[in-house]
Amino acid sequence: LLSRPSEEFMFKHKGFYFLPDLANPEYIDSLEHFVIRDSDVFVVTFPKSGTVWMQNILSLIYYESHRDGTAKTETIDRVPWLEYNFNKMDYGSRPSPRLFSTHLPYYLAPRDMRNKGAKVIYVARNPKDVAVSYFHFSKHAFIFEKVPDFNILMERFLSGKGKVSFTAKSSWFDHIRGWFTHRADYNILFLTYEEMKKDLRSAVLKICDFLGKRLTEKELDVVVEKATFNNMKSDPRSNYEDKTCILKKGRDNFLRRGTVGDWKNIMTVAQSEKFNKVFNEKMKDLPFKDRGTL
Ligand code: A3P
Repeated sequence: LLSRPSEEFMFKHKGFYFLPDLANPEYIDSLEHFVIRDSDVFVVTFPKSGTVWMQNILSLIYYESHRDGTAKTETIDRVPWLEYNFNKMDYGSRPSPRLFSTHLPYYLAPRDMRNKGAKVIYVARNPKDVAVSYFHFSKHAFIFEKVPDFNILMERFLSGKGKVSFTAKSSWFDHIRGWFTHRADYNILFLTYEEMKKDLRSAVLKICDFLGKRLTEKELDVVVEKATFNNMKSDPRSNYEDKTCILKKGRDNFLRRGTVGDWKNIMTVAQSEKFNKVFNEKMKDLPFKDRGTL
């Protein structure tokens, strides 16, 4: 996995790119019939939208306040990837409530999720910041093709053509559109990265409310405190520091800058205008007022 460039080794299946060492077409197809429990919780994101952040928040809500011997468990084992079973867990025998993460587009997700069986939390982020975050991430990640020029990455991001992140047919626009327009089929909470940044406490309360979890004021304080950028950055368990199969050791890990509007530091006025134009065209029938402000 480490030595091969993504260009050659990622495989395309039903419009999406996957890593062969961790998935194969049969496994992806089998997920359609993945047996869902009512108590399951899925974090659904387009890559670079705050997945690790939400994984950590859920992990804190469900495990941290009662440290029942799980204090050393990695986040990836608490909220494992549905499509990438990194640590070869037996998902079927995990105790409830099971927490999962996925980047899958809605049409590849388990069918039973559509019966409102599980709870789904979709985290969306301003796509300009998503593109910029991905641009930096791709420089340090083994698993992605490096795109040296932001303009090239942006063109791919906007057109949905070429391997930006895990996507082929399914661009950022398709991903959010799919989940959003089918939202009535799911028990789903849409949250934005921006609202989490603005008021993390309120966001955590909203999440708890959705999950039917009641935390004491003290427990809530702990979750909010531990989910701040700086605290997560210095916690190897939540910053995926040891995931050297994904990132080069010692480089920017999943927690890079963690701000809203970082795109302003890299995009030219012309690029930003082009981005707005495409966004407005592709999202015109959806109630997303402005780029990423859902
Ligand atoms: P930046 O690259 O803009 O810093 P994902 O987990 O989906 O790969 O998303 C990664 C992005 O979420 C990174 O964005 C990362 O810094 C940001 N992030 C992770 N944890 C965060 C936190 N606690 N607060 C703010 N941003 C966070």
